Amino acid sequence: MNSEAATARIVMERCDILGGISEEVGCLTRPFATKAMQRVNDTVAAWMQEAGMRVTRDAIGNLIGRYEGRSAAAKTLVLGSHLDSVRDAGRYDGPLGVMVALACVQRLHARGERLPFAIEVVGFADEEGMRFSRSYLGSRAITGTFDSTWLEVRDEHDISMAEAIRAFSGSAEPQELAEALRTPRWLREELLGYTEVHIEQGPVLEEMGLPVGVVTAITGQTRLRIGFTGMAGHAGTVPMSMRRDAFSAAAEFVLAVEGIARSMPGLVATVGQVNVKPGVSNVIAGQVTLSLDVRHQDDTIREQALLEMEARGRDIGLARYVTFVWQPLEAHDAVPCSTYLTQLFVRAIEEVEYPVQRLPSGAGHDAAIMSTLTGMAMLFVRCKGGISHNPTESVTSEDTGIAIDVLERFIKLLAQEARE
Ligand code: HGY
Ligand code: MN
Ligand code: MN
Repeated sequence: MNSEAATARIVMERCDILGGISEEVGCLTRPFATKAMQRVNDTVAAWMQEAGMRVTRDAIGNLIGRYEGRSAAAKTLVLGSHLDSVRDAGRYDGPLGVMVALACVQRLHARGERLPFAIEVVGFADEEGMRFSRSYLGSRAITGTFDSTWLEVRDEHDISMAEAIRAFSGSAEPQELAEALRTPRWLREELLGYTEVHIEQGPVLEEMGLPVGVVTAITGQTRLRIGFTGMAGHAGTVPMSMRRDAFSAAAEFVLAVEGIARSMPGLVATVGQVNVKPGVSNVIAGQVTLSLDVRHQDDTIREQALLEMEARGRDIGLARYVTFVWQPLEAHDAVPCSTYLTQLFVRAIEEVEYPVQRLPSGAGHDAAIMSTLTGMAMLFVRCKGGISHNPTESVTSEDTGIAIDVLERFIKLLAQEARE
C-alpha cells in the first residue's frame, strides 16, 4: 500500500471516529458549543499534537493547530474546515477537510520538513448554524466579522449564544467576549491564503468520473425566518370559510416559493424547518414559523427572487386574513475563489494527471468568510450520488488519497513560489 493510500486510510478511520461523536443516540448531530463538540475538539487536538502542532482554542471554540515554518517571521497558510454538523448528518461534511489538512501536516512532520511559511489547521466551531440559526460563527469570530448582537440570540432551550459560549469555552465576561469575537486572529499581511478541502455535496464529479475538482466560486445565500399568524380554533366547529388557518397560508407560501425557484434557472429555495402552534390535531393552526434558505450564483437574481417571494407571502396573508412576517436573518453574497491559489490547485491536479474540472459551490463554506481576510481556494472531493446532509454521505479512500496528494502538491507549489 503506498503512503498516500495508508494516510488516506487513517483519514477515513478518523472520520469514522469523529462520526461516532454525537449529541443524539443513533445518528450524527453535533451542534455548536455542545459536549460532543468538546469531545471532538479534544480528539482532534491530540491528533494535531501528534503531528507536531501547537494547539490553541479561541474564545468561540475554534480549534487551531499551528505547524511552524522555517522562521518565526514566516507568513501563514491556513487550512481547515468545520467540525460541527447538521442534524442526522454525514460524517465527511467538514471533518474530511480538517483530517486531510492534518494528514498533510503529519506527513511534513514525519519527514522533519519545515516550509518557508507556517501552516495553521482550523477546526471551525460552527459552520452550519444549526443551534442558533446563524451560520459561520467560528469563521466569523476568527476573522473578526462576528455580529455581537448575535450573542443575545437564544436556542430552542432558551439558552443565549453568550451563555453557550461561556459554558463551552469558559471565556471571559460579556465585554471581553464581544471584544475577542471582533478581533481577527491574523493580520491580513500575515496570511498567504486559506484553502479548504470539502466533499462536493453534489453530483458533478461523479457524473464526470473525476475524483477531485476545483471550486470557482461559492454561491450567495440568504437565510430568513417567515411567520404566519392567524387564529387558533376548533377543528370541528369553525366553517372553512371562516378560518384564518396559519398552516394553510404557510403551505400555500411554500408551494409559491417552490414555483418561483423552479421558474428562475439556477435558483434554489428550501423550507427545511416548520414550527406549528399550538400543534394539536384538533386545533386550527394559529401560528406557523418557517425557515427559508434562498441561493443563487448571481446575487441580483437572488435579490429579485427574494422580492418576489416576499410579495407572494404578503398577498397570501392578505387573502387569508393572516399576518405575514418576513425576517431576514443573514445574507452572504457570492464569493469568487482566489485565481492565484486556484491556479496552484489546477497545476497540482495536472501533476497527478487528472482532467481539471472547475465547478461552483452551491453549498456555503467557511472559505466564504475567510475570504474577507485573505484569498481562498477550495478542492472538492467526489461523493457518492452527490448525497450530503444525510447519513448515507460517503467518499472513497482512493479519492481521499488523491485529495491528500493534490493538497500536498498544492502546498509544495506554494512553498516553491514563496521561496522565489
Ligand atoms: O448550508 C450550507 O451550504 C452548508 O452546508 N452550511
Ligand atoms: Mn460543510
Ligand atoms: Mn454542511
